Amino acid sequence: MERKQIVKEYSNEDITVIWKPKTCIHSKKCWKGLLQVFNPQNRPWVNMDGASTARIKKQVDACPSGALIYVNKHEDKEKNSTTTNGKLAEGNHVTLIDMKENGPLIVHGNLEIKDTKGNTVTHSNKTALCRCGASSNKPLCDGSHAKVDFKAN
Ligand code: FES
Repeated sequence: MERKQIVKEYSNEDITVIWKPKTCIHSKKCWKGLLQVFNPQNRPWVNMDGASTARIKKQVDACPSGALIYVNKHEDKEKNSTTTNGKLAEGNHVTLIDMKENGPLIVHGNLEIKDTKGNTVTHSNKTALCRCGASSNKPLCDGSHAKVDFKAN
């Protein structure tokens, strides 16, 4: 049984930015890097008119968890899910797990996670897995590592 993940979509003429709230680790990189587009004080919090498409893509590429991805509007989503900001997902069969200092494990590539009830959730590009034990959305990181002052190299 596959469980649907909540996603929010924001578009301009060229791309659609997809935000997966449950995948977000609240690194703040998006709004610290491009507040004109990603402003948590605004509703909706993403303003696709706030910067050029190239600049928005660059900022989305900096998302450490993969909670933000983009798809080019003129390409099909299936193809795009492996060619956007998951650099190693592009034709590379090596799975990279990136250990973030004092934070989660970032898995690069597409994966399915099956929970204890047999539900599966599909993740593409990047997934942040909790290694501090404090997340309330296990096995995904929810940013709680910062609140519990998790320390690990
Ligand atoms: S590593 Fe982020 S909540 Fe545990």
